[in-house]
Formats: sequence, structure tokens, C-alpha cells
Amino acid sequence: MKITVVGAGNVGATCADVLAYKEIGNQVVLLDIKEGIAEGKALDIWQKAPIDLYDTRTIGVTNDYSRTADSDVVVITSGLPRKPGMSRDDLISTNANIVRSVTENVVKHSPNAIIIVVSNPLDVMTYCAHITSKMPRTRVMGMAGILDTARYRAFLADEINCSPKDIQAMLMGGHGDTMVPLPRYTTVGGIPVTELVAKDKLDAIVNRTINGGGELVKLMGTSAWYAPGSAAAQMVEAIVKDQRRIFPVCLKLEGEYDIDNCYLGAPVVLGKNGIEKIIELKLNDEEKALLEVSRQKVTEVMQVLDNIVEKS
Ligand code: NAI
Ligand code: 2OP
Repeated sequence: MKITVVGAGNVGATCADVLAYKEIGNQVVLLDIKEGIAEGKALDIWQKAPIDLYDTRTIGVTNDYSRTADSDVVVITSGLPRKPGMSRDDLISTNANIVRSVTENVVKHSPNAIIIVVSNPLDVMTYCAHITSKMPRTRVMGMAGILDTARYRAFLADEINCSPKDIQAMLMGGHGDTMVPLPRYTTVGGIPVTELVAKDKLDAIVNRTINGGGELVKLMGTSAWYAPGSAAAQMVEAIVKDQRRIFPVCLKLEGEYDIDNCYLGAPVVLGKNGIEKIIELKLNDEEKALLEVSRQKVTEVMQVLDNIVEKS
């Protein structure tokens, strides 16, 4: 399997490293627009192979899409990350231009690839890649839910003092302040989390999760990359190994959850065809109301993108 990662910055290079280290594909192409950066990082990852014992070939290229030809999966991480004080939406115009031109090149050279978008603002960049690609919605999706649930699970593991491996969780909605964590669908070793964590503590953890990206931006002056890179690699793995794993993934909703034409996170089955199935949870009124707020927020940003496209 051939996997391309576009953008050899913090998230892209981390994703390529995880893909190689876990031998998720047999070839990983890392592409960046900055001369030499992808070549250097790919060479570094390849030189780690004799130490960590993997044989995935990692190749770096500067903007040469011919080298990405016939990729099975493409991860798009190119774009500016968030700086302190900047919202994800501030990034929209710059990153939309980047994501649009990258998607055009990707589709030209790998018309059968499945595309995973990471660039922010995530839901709207997924929209941008999807409309540019003209591919079915099952083959163009965004990564955010795995990262957001991972943060939530990590905070819960700290609170309960247990292994994060035993925490299962689902969330929905947009990537950002309006994400919809679902404590009702969170279990710890099969036990509902509400039996182990008091409501006020759980509310505080949900709140920290919602602000999880911003917490890291404040600490580091740029956005996170270890967990985001691994989260994107986990989606690639589910696809290339046809694992049929259930993850929250950003996709275009077309009537599911009574929402039409909006790109939001929802639980799906991920396998060799991309999104194999969309799972419709029976949300209660409170959860539905939160999802509606998320829908409105993402729709507003989609309209910003529509205006940019109209003017260009
Ligand atoms: P970074 O600045 O470290 O890397 C971005 C890379 O993209 C740079 O190396 C840059 O040269 C490259 N690039 C820019 N334009 C390009 C083009 N036209 N073609 C190819 N490469 C191009 O940024 P980082 O930290 O890796 O973040 C990447 C994106 O991912 C940002 O938009 C960030 O906000 C987003 N992000 C999304 C997350 C999510 O949960 N969906 C989590 C973390 C980051
Ligand atoms: C994150 O959640 C900024 O989207 C990025 O870390």
C-alpha cells in the first residue's frame, strides 16, 4: 500500500513517522512545498528503520506530485497551524487555497485515493477538499474526532487513575468549541463512566476537552502534533488494513441526524472503501441541541468558504 502525506511540518512528519514505524503501508511519500524539508525528514525516518526495525520505505519530495502517483490513501496536513490568540476560523482563507490546490494535484495523480484532511479549520477544509475532489463523500473525510476523544480519554485516565487503553468514548460535531462530547457513550472497562466519575468532575473534563487544542497552543505557541499525527495514522491503518474500526470522523452529513449538507463529526465504520457505514446514535434532546449549535457554527464557516470561492 502506498500512502502520501502532504505537508511535512509537525503533524505531517509525525504521521509519516507513525505510518513507517507501525508498517502501516509499504511506501510512504512525504511531500512539502518547502525545498528539502520533506526529503530531509523522510531520510531521517528511513535512517531510524534499522534501529526500530521496520521496512516501510519513506520518500520525501518537494511539490512533485508525480512521485505520489497511485497512492491508496492521502493525508493532507498542509496549511498554517493556529498561533496563540488565533481561532481555527482565522486560518480559513489561506488554508482553503492550500487545500484546494493540493487536492487538485492529489486527485490528478491518485484518482482512486481515499483522502483524509487534517488542516484547519477541519470541518470546512474537509468540505473544501470534498468539493474540489468531486469524489463520493465516503472517500473524503476529516480527522478530528479521534484526537478529541483521545484527549478526553487521557484526562479521564488521569482522573480515574487507570489505563487509557480501557477507556472507550465517542463524540460528535465540529472540531472546535462546539464539539459534542457524549459521556453517555463513554465506558471504562465496560463500566459507564458516570458510575466512576462525579458529574462536576466529568463536566470539567468535558470542558477541558473542548478547549484541549487551545490549551496546547497556549503552552507551545503552536498547535499539537504527536496526538494529531498518530490519530491520522490510525485512520489510515483502519483503511489500508480494512479493519472496519468505529471512529468519529468528519464527513458530509446528507440527512443523517436530520442534518443535510453540513460537514460534522459522526461515528462511522472505517474500512477499505473509506467510510463503510455511518452509525446513527439515538441522541437525547440535550445532545441534539448541542449538535444543532455545532451545525450552525460549521455552516457559518462553510458560507465563508463559499464566499471565498465565489470571489476567486
Ligand atoms: P506546520 O506549519 O508544522 O506544517 C505545515 C506544513 O505545510 C509546512 O511544512 C508547510 O511548508 C506545508 N505547506 C504549506 N503549503 C503547502 C502546499 N501548498 N503544499 C504542500 N505543503 C505545504 O503545521 P502543523 O502543526 O503540521 O499543522 C498542519 C495543519 O494541521 C494546520 O492547519 C493545523 O491547524 C492543523 N491541525 C489540525 C488538527 C486536527 O485535529 N484536525 C490537529 C493539529 C493540527
Ligand atoms: C488541535 O485541536 C489546533 O486543531 C488543533 O490541536
